[in-house]
Amino acid sequence: MWIYEKKLQYPVKVSKCDPQMAKYLMEQYGGADGELAAALRYLNQRYTIPDKVIGLLTDIGTEEFAHLEMIATMIYKLTKDATPEQLEAAGLGAHYAAHDSALFYNNAGGVPWTAAYIQGKGDPLADLYEDIAAEEKARATYQWLIDLTDDVDLQDSLKFLREREIVHSLRFREAVEILKDDRATKKVY
Ligand SMILES: [Fe+2]
Repeated sequence: MWIYEKKLQYPVKVSKCDPQMAKYLMEQYGGADGELAAALRYLNQRYTIPDKVIGLLTDIGTEEFAHLEMIATMIYKLTKDATPEQLEAAGLGAHYAAHDSALFYNNAGGVPWTAAYIQGKGDPLADLYEDIAAEEKARATYQWLIDLTDDVDLQDSLKFLREREIVHSLRFREAVEILKDDRATKKVY
């Protein structure tokens, strides 16, 4: 069960209408290494991971939904004043034709999200190594998104998200060590 707090985890400000940047940000909305994929991957893995790691997956999976909400807010703010002509010029003409200005779980290339982006292998170490890779890929994407904009307000929010990916990666690495230690102390008769 979740308790809902009606505010963003970190403020999202944008200083201008920029549908081109909104299109790039969709990579973190409905892309393979995006926030939706992260949240669904971690929460789903909880049922077969050892008890010691369930809380970690719940914490991080829940936080990824908070990040998804931040990305949604960025995309909304960057496109809310855009005309259909501006959306078309930014490569969002097909998106507009299908969704008006509604958000949708596409990646930056317009490809819809798919569960094939994520894994639930059932092997704790395999799952955790996938999670570490996911965090590193998300961190890299945030860096490239920061590089693509000169909007300092937007950069500030993106830097917060990049830092959180680093923290998540470190926590998953710690979880690997905990499970390895457990495995090493197990007696086999
Ligand atoms: Fe993360």
